[in-house]
Amino acid sequence: MSDKKVRISELLQQMTLTEKIGQMSQLSGNYGKVSEELAAKIRRGQVGSVINEVSLDVINEIQRIAVTESRLGIPLLIGRDVIHGFKTIFPIPLGQAASWNPTLIQHAAHISAVEAASCGINWTFSPMVDISRDPRWGRVAEGFGEDPYLCSELAIAMMQGYQQDNFNGLGAIASCAKHFVGYGASESGRDYCTTNIPESELRNTYMPPFKKLADAGIASFMSSFSDLNGIPASGNEWLLKDILRKEWGYQGFVVSDWESIAQLQIHGLTENDKESAYEAANAGVDMEMVSNTYEKHLRELITENRLSIQQIDSAVSRILSLKHDLGLFDSAYTKQSDYPALANGHHLKLAKDIVLESCVLLENKRQVLPLSLDSLNSVAVIGPLADDGYEQLGTWIFDGDPDYSVTCLDAIKNEVGDSIKINYVKGLQNTRDCSQDEFHSAKEAVLSSDVAIVVLGEESILSGEAHCRADIGLPGAQEALIKTLSSCGRPIILVVMAGRPLTLESILPDIDALLYCWHPGTMGGPAIADLLFGKHSPSGKLPITFPRKIGQIPIYYSQKHSGKPATEDSFIHMNDIPQRAEQTSLGMSATHLDTHFSPLYPFGYGLSYGEFEYRDITTNKQQVRIGEGIEITATVTNTGQLAAVEISQLYIRDLVGNITRPIKELKGFQRNFLQPGETRKLCFSIHTKDLAFYNRKMKLTTEPGLFHVWIGGCSTTKLQAEFEVVK
Ligand code: NOJ
Repeated sequence: MSDKKVRISELLQQMTLTEKIGQMSQLSGNYGKVSEELAAKIRRGQVGSVINEVSLDVINEIQRIAVTESRLGIPLLIGRDVIHGFKTIFPIPLGQAASWNPTLIQHAAHISAVEAASCGINWTFSPMVDISRDPRWGRVAEGFGEDPYLCSELAIAMMQGYQQDNFNGLGAIASCAKHFVGYGASESGRDYCTTNIPESELRNTYMPPFKKLADAGIASFMSSFSDLNGIPASGNEWLLKDILRKEWGYQGFVVSDWESIAQLQIHGLTENDKESAYEAANAGVDMEMVSNTYEKHLRELITENRLSIQQIDSAVSRILSLKHDLGLFDSAYTKQSDYPALANGHHLKLAKDIVLESCVLLENKRQVLPLSLDSLNSVAVIGPLADDGYEQLGTWIFDGDPDYSVTCLDAIKNEVGDSIKINYVKGLQNTRDCSQDEFHSAKEAVLSSDVAIVVLGEESILSGEAHCRADIGLPGAQEALIKTLSSCGRPIILVVMAGRPLTLESILPDIDALLYCWHPGTMGGPAIADLLFGKHSPSGKLPITFPRKIGQIPIYYSQKHSGKPATEDSFIHMNDIPQRAEQTSLGMSATHLDTHFSPLYPFGYGLSYGEFEYRDITTNKQQVRIGEGIEITATVTNTGQLAAVEISQLYIRDLVGNITRPIKELKGFQRNFLQPGETRKLCFSIHTKDLAFYNRKMKLTTEPGLFHVWIGGCSTTKLQAEFEVVK
């Protein structure tokens, strides 16, 4: 037996039932002090973990109580939502996803972990890998977008950044795959709502990132708040036992979401807390976050033989196993001087690097960007988000410090120096402000400038948990502001900071360029200024589809063909409909009558200061045997005037399946930096197991048959080849 197993089994033999149940309980800290009640519970061995305590002195003190004053001296897991940074705030995860850069994401997570660990935290509730195709959902900000493949690749990188190589390395902390599963599909994008997801869809779309994180060794899973097909995830035995444990063989532990066990009663699954504790523990939730149904009822459920002591022992040993892996039994204390300073120069530099790669250039009419300092005498900077160090941080930034933030206004001033005049007007007090009091001065500022940089979007409070929107246009009078400014006849460069895709179609005629920066975090300003003034080319690509109109949601690139798919000709303008039209006269295809069926911006889209041309797609064989691989190559040339990074993407389509298959599926991507005129050969390898999907019988299978394959700079690429999978 390994040392770990010996230690755990010795502890289990010595533990009382109260102490075992204690390990399965996570309590909320008292935010900066040790309450007598918490201290007493820790002393009695009734606490396995504490959430939401970030004062190092308090954490060291509660660890001291656990280690020296509880009977068995078991240290605590200290959990915290470190979602996109700790003190140094990186772009929101959806923004990071737009970088398609696993390496940078891993570095950022590593820095977040080191900063958090220096304050005594040893467990983060991240990454969130809920696939979401509904930008109304506020938590879309927290995930990696709509695609299971991209999400999995980036989430694994983030997890490795937190956990490092099996917790070896300064500042490694445990991470958590959440929210298992389907939470991103909540009805109408309203947080916590019901999800109804067919099993094949669960397995083919929502589960893959979780499965990949489980295989890659993520320390913990969090069960979702949401009701999954009638059985809320935190009491779902099929999900947590049959799939996670039996089918996937997952060894880490499962924590509930905040009070999600007690909420089983509110869902109407159980009559009372005792039954909620039963359903959750029996399903396989190992630790209860904050509510206390386990503390109150597990003993009785064991006495009544409804739960076995083996079930409890398995849960406890999984929790102890993580404490061992984190080295907490050797030392539970944190010495801040062992760690680099918070938000130090290196951390801030990385924060800037990742913004440089996460901004997506969506419009650049007549190549108005990059701006050239030589041709400018004055620049207007307008907008409620142009100089707000807090709002640029985004959601989930409990520990972030806006004092470190550098805003767009600061950075633009810094970039242009004294020779160019900056005319700054806020225009609106916040993004929801409907007053037009400052429109006149904003207009004056633009009229006396050569160009206007207008920074609009959403304040951070408009996205994140429980912050969903039914209308995802620019809030307040921002649209009116843009229209007012566009009448000045100066180039309008719109910089958007937001936690989700916004519906921006109606303002496109009024702007000349659109740089989508998500909530960029601490170093948003300097990176955005570098992009605007051409020190660096934008290279981000959308990790989520942008709808034209809300009514198109859910809209995503990997949808399926209907029996009557829409085509370019299907678009009917409402005004073209005759006074009286026969029922079938408008054609019969899967479109809305009042908007084009295509999105405003598709998944994978993003412009650059380079221009990229793809050619010569070919495969190294026409047929690939099941169990083998195939190579797909193409060339990409930068035909533009400026050097830039291009993210090249590989998509496939399985033409006929035992269940219908998406019209495109991302299967690979790579980033290349290309000088003007430079051509690069792209080579992607796919193994037939990458083509597998869960069929009608819920069996993971690669089916023989014809596949289309595409390479390009966006999901709409037309550069296509084909190959056949044979037995
Ligand atoms: C509720 C959220 O759903 C979850 O993501 C978070 O980790 C917990 N609260 C803890 O704060």
